Parts: sequence; structure tokens; C-alpha cells
Amino acid sequence: MSPAIGATLNRVDGRFKVRGESRYSAEVALTGLTHAVLLNATVASGRITAINTDEAERAEGVLAVLTHRNLDRVATVPPLLPALAGLAAHGQTFFPLQDETIHYGGQPVAIVVADTIERAEHAATLIRVEYDTTPATTLLDQARDRAYVPDRIFGGLLPGHSSRGDVAKALAEAEVRVEATYRFAPNHHNPIEPSASTAVWDDVDRLTIYDATQGPSATQFTVAALLGLPPISIRVVSHAVGGSFGSKAMIWHHPALAAMAARQVRRPVRLALTREQMFTSCGHREEQEQQISIGADADGRISALRHHKTSLTSPFDDWAEPSLQSAAVAYTSPNYEGVYHLVRGNTITPTFMRAPGEASGMFALECAMDELAERVGVDPLELRLRNYADTDPENGHPWSSNGLRECYQRAAELFGWHDRDPRPGSRREGRWLIGTGMAGALYPIAQPVNPQRAKARLYSDGTAVVEAGVSEFGTGVYTAMTQVAADALGLPVDRVRFVGGSSDLPNITAAVGSTGTSAVGSAVHIAATQLRDQLIQRAVADGRSPLHGADPAGVEVRDGRMVRRDRPDVGETYADLLQRTMAPDMEVLGIWNPPPQDAGYGLHTFGTQMAEVAVDADLGVVRVRRMVGVFAPGRVLNRKTAHSQLMGGMLWGLGQALLEATRMDPRIGRWANASLADYLVPVNADVPDVVVDTIEVRDDVVNPIGIKGVGEIGVVGAAAAIANAVHHATGRRQYELPITLEKLL
Ligand code: MOS
Repeated sequence: MSPAIGATLNRVDGRFKVRGESRYSAEVALTGLTHAVLLNATVASGRITAINTDEAERAEGVLAVLTHRNLDRVATVPPLLPALAGLAAHGQTFFPLQDETIHYGGQPVAIVVADTIERAEHAATLIRVEYDTTPATTLLDQARDRAYVPDRIFGGLLPGHSSRGDVAKALAEAEVRVEATYRFAPNHHNPIEPSASTAVWDDVDRLTIYDATQGPSATQFTVAALLGLPPISIRVVSHAVGGSFGSKAMIWHHPALAAMAARQVRRPVRLALTREQMFTSCGHREEQEQQISIGADADGRISALRHHKTSLTSPFDDWAEPSLQSAAVAYTSPNYEGVYHLVRGNTITPTFMRAPGEASGMFALECAMDELAERVGVDPLELRLRNYADTDPENGHPWSSNGLRECYQRAAELFGWHDRDPRPGSRREGRWLIGTGMAGALYPIAQPVNPQRAKARLYSDGTAVVEAGVSEFGTGVYTAMTQVAADALGLPVDRVRFVGGSSDLPNITAAVGSTGTSAVGSAVHIAATQLRDQLIQRAVADGRSPLHGADPAGVEVRDGRMVRRDRPDVGETYADLLQRTMAPDMEVLGIWNPPPQDAGYGLHTFGTQMAEVAVDADLGVVRVRRMVGVFAPGRVLNRKTAHSQLMGGMLWGLGQALLEATRMDPRIGRWANASLADYLVPVNADVPDVVVDTIEVRDDVVNPIGIKGVGEIGVVGAAAAIANAVHHATGRRQYELPITLEKLL
């Protein structure tokens, strides 16, 4: 039996997806189901002076119109915690529909519940709202003078500023200095499935919420806190989730609003956000600007890095995606300073978005590195090797594992990097200017802060089930978990099933920050290994077993059969053992206690990106021709799903580089392109030849299965490689994302 881990197993849930049989949270069929529609504020700042719901209440099929005047008050709003603990993880510390104040455009001002979605939508158009408006801040440029440095960002997890050495002195003394400012448009996640919650109270006063979420227990704990209920009163089911990318990581208002509406109308309520509402209901990547100063000697050896970020946050929360964290440790600079500056604006609190922080912060650093390479006349790859961080530059700790050198080497071979003529504008094919560029990729390894749990059960027919409260939102986690459990139990994958998607299952932290598979995989590995060991113990202790009296350490399991390693003909199957001993099943709860984040190792995943672009010399159109990404994500559980994740990340990087931008209309304080027709994402025609490869590094530090996560590292550096390639093609540096064609005319 060959190991399941590392195989290219197809998604175990793939069949249901392609047949359209997967049930999403807005598709649950319930007796007496009703439909809720949100009405959103059309102003960005001010207060409601009048709200007339009479006509809406009289409309056909309407069961309730809920506003700040008659919706229940929430018990507490949980603090802003970034979901890493599997506790309450509210998206912002503000909850709408509690008073007349308007903090941002799109804030919910009313909920209509009706017997059909069409009737609810119609009734919502009959509500009359009048506002007193006050001036709103929705662009960074409107309020730079009000910037402040917060003590902590990111839900209190990270400091607002950090430093080592003396950066000012080192910059002043540097032989070469690169100084640049980079600007980033706001971005939205745009998963194919908009968020939705269906809430139903059963007759023993227990609430079930079918929710599209990255963490069923995070929804459970958050709604429990908001409604003032014990967690046991709430079950969250999340059977299928159509993509997320961070938009369903924090728990926003809609699951609690659906539950509150269902309690008030005494019927099940479905609340599905529209595509347009997705732009104002689940956070976004904030508009930001980053300033970088690098000081180096004439050979390009870095002595100083100063990295400041200024970004827009909400009226209530000090949120900034952590753009400075990975850039701070990417190279061996002895002198460093990183500072976050925030400006309060009238938007919802920004949130995680795929490679939160690194996608923007590493863009700035890796573009500045390209500029430094040009200034000192060194190949960009060679420059990175000269500044290679053999240990964590922050504290000198060894990396838990690295592999970056191997990534550089493999990518250079796959791409043909070394044939490159470094002179900008040196390659032309007709009207197309051709260029190549590269960038490094780093993404931190975040460890869950609390124990992770999974259950493994073997039935007397020799099949096994493994359970944990995770959801499958497109990462392939159910498939990888089947593989982990199969290997630990010594069973073929077709005799193992993984069950997730409910908060009634053992608690696992929300899958954020590329931790999902490592958190649940470690718990699954421990549960399945302990179950196997208990079965072996039971066999060697059983006088009727052929293994009676054998040394348990000398017993292994192949294809469901426990055998003596020295005599593989002596043994019996799990099924024989359980049937003979009249045991219907055996079950183990496995608990993984993650090592602390500060256990004396630098914790990062590494990789590198290379890209070739063609730029139309007359029209400024940029076409990415090919991309190569090589990453060292630890052990690869499933080549197919891991490579898909990494490739998906690289295409996100392409979108970030060339297409993705949400445009704010500051006159009305609302997003001007809140639709998939106007918010551009890469489609197949934009997708070039993409090569993904992995370097397997052994990592015995991070977790018992040695994996470092693949969900986000693929994004990091991709946009910088493309921007650097555009410079190589045209001789023009790009300081603003996305690189739209007018920037090249
Ligand atoms: Mo992920 S963007 O950290 O949910």
C-alpha cells in the first residue's frame, strides 16, 4: 500500500460540486422558510432623521420590517480578534441597527422579512429613509493630516511600530539609497458564492445557522456573544462554501441578523447578501500607501530598511493588514524600522484578504529591491543571495525550515532566468516590448493559540471516519484530511471518510492565515495515530488474536491488517478484531497543543516568483506571458490540491498587479464598481502559462505533520515580479497598483 500523503488524489467532494449536488448556505430547504433582505444606507456619514416603513409593512407577504427602532439590542459586541483562536471573531466592533448613526455607506438600516425573496425585495423599495449627512472621509488623500500611529493593529495582535538598530544613522551612512512610495487601490475578495446565513430556531430553543464561513465555531461563538446565549444554544452548519479568501474569516453581521430576524418572526430566515452588498458587508483590503527606504553598500549589501505604511481604517477599529511583518525579516538588514499610520475613514473595518499584508508589503519591498539591483548593477537574483537571511533577522533564531535557496535555483532553471539581458527595453517583438522580472515570497506561519481537536472512529467493518469542525471553502482540506487519516490508520483512502462542516464536531480554529490544514491535519494525525495504537494494544492483549503477546512497537498496519513487522504473515484485520470482541466501533479524541509562537524559531514559508510580460509600446496594454512560482511549503500532502492553491494564489497576484481595484466615489462615499462586471478579476484569457513547483523541506518544528501552508504564499511576490518585468520591458517603474494601461502611455 503506497502512502496517501503526497499523492495527487482528486477532491473527495469534487463529484458533488460538478454535479451541482453540494448544498450551500442559501440553498438549504426548510419548512416555512422566509427571506430577509437588507436595506443599506445611501450616505457615508450622518444620522437617520426619519424612517417610514408603513407601506413596506402593508406590502403583500411581508412578515416584519426591522429597523433600529424595533430590532432586538445585541448583548455585547465581541472584541476584534483575528479568528486565530477559534473564539468569537467579530469583523468589527460596531453592530448596525442599534441606533440612528450612520458610519459608512452600505451600513444596514433595515431588514425586510417576507414569504418570498421577490416580495421582500419589493417591500424594501417602499421604505423611506431620511438622513442628516455629515462630511465623510473615504479616501486617504482627504485626511492624511489626521494620521496617527496606533499602539496595536490587527485586533491587538501586532504592535503599531517596531524597530531594531539605528535606521536613521544607517541610512545616512549608506553608499546607496533607494527611496520609493507605493500606492495600492482597495481590493475586494469576490468569492463566487456571496455570503449567506439561514437561521432556524427549533422547538427546544436551539438555533441552527447554516452559514458560509471559514470557521463554524467562530460563527457559533460570535453569534452566542451577540445574542447573549451560551454557545451550546447554537449549532453552525457549513456544508459547502464557494470560496472566501478572507471575506468569511471574521464573522460579520449577517449570521446574527438572520438569527435575530428568525427569532422575531418565529420562522426560519434566509439572509443571502447580494453581490453589491458583498462590497460593504465583509471587509476589504484597505486603500494604502507604503514608503520604503533601503540603505546599502556599493555591492548591494543592505544596512537599513525603513518601511512605513499609511492606510484607511474604519471609524471604530485600528485595523491594518500586517504589511510590514514579512518584509521586516526578508533580508539581513541590521537596522530596521516599521511604522503603521492609520487614518479613520467612513468604511466598514477592513479585513483579511488573501496573503493579508504580505501581498502589499512584499510588493513594495520587492520592487524596491529591483530598483536597488539596477542601481548597483547586480542581477536581481544575485542581489537577493547577497542579502540572504540564514537566520531570522529580527532575533537571530534559526528558521524552523527554509528552502529559499533551492526555490531560487529551481525557478531560475524552470524560467531560464540566467539568459536575461538586464538592460531595460532590450527585447522587442514587433510592437511588443518584452521584459522579465522576479520577486521573493515570504508568508508567516501563524500557530493557533489553543488546542486543536479531532475525533477518529473505526467501525467493525473496517471503515473509518474522522471528524473536526472545519469547513471546506475550496482549499481541498477534506481531501487532505482523508489522506492524513488513511496513512496514520494504515487504511486505503477509500475506506476513510472525513466529516466536517459543523460546530457540533470537535473544535478547530477558523481556517485563516494559511493555518487550516496544519491545524486540523495535526489533530487528525494525532487522533488517527492514537486510534491505531489502541487497536494494536487491544489485539496484542487479546488471547484469541494471532498477535497475542507481540510487542506493540513491532506491529504495523497495512491495508487495514495489523501484522508483525518481522513476520508479515502473522496478524489480523481491524475488522476481525472488533467483530470478535463484539465492539461496534472504537473512537479516540486527538488533541494537538500547538507550540508557542515564540519557541525560538523564525517561522516563515518561502518561495520565489518570476514573470515575463509583453507591453504594447503604443497602447500600454500589459500581457503576462508566463509565470513561474517555486515554493517551499514544508511537506506537500496532496500535490494536486496544493499546486492548485499555489497557482490560484499566483493568479490573484496577476489580478492585483493588473486588474483589481475598487473605486470609491468620494462625492457619495460609496464604491463605484461594486459588481463583477466592473470589478475586474483575471479570467482564462488573461491566464498565461503558469508553472508551479515545490521544494519539499522537512519541518519538524511547526507541527507533527511538517506542513507550513499553501493558501497564501502563492500570491506573495507575484505582483512585484510582474511590475519588475514591466520595468524591464519599458524602463518605467511602477509605483501604483493596479498597473492600468494609462500608466504606460
Ligand atoms: Mo486568510 S485572507 O488569512 O482568511
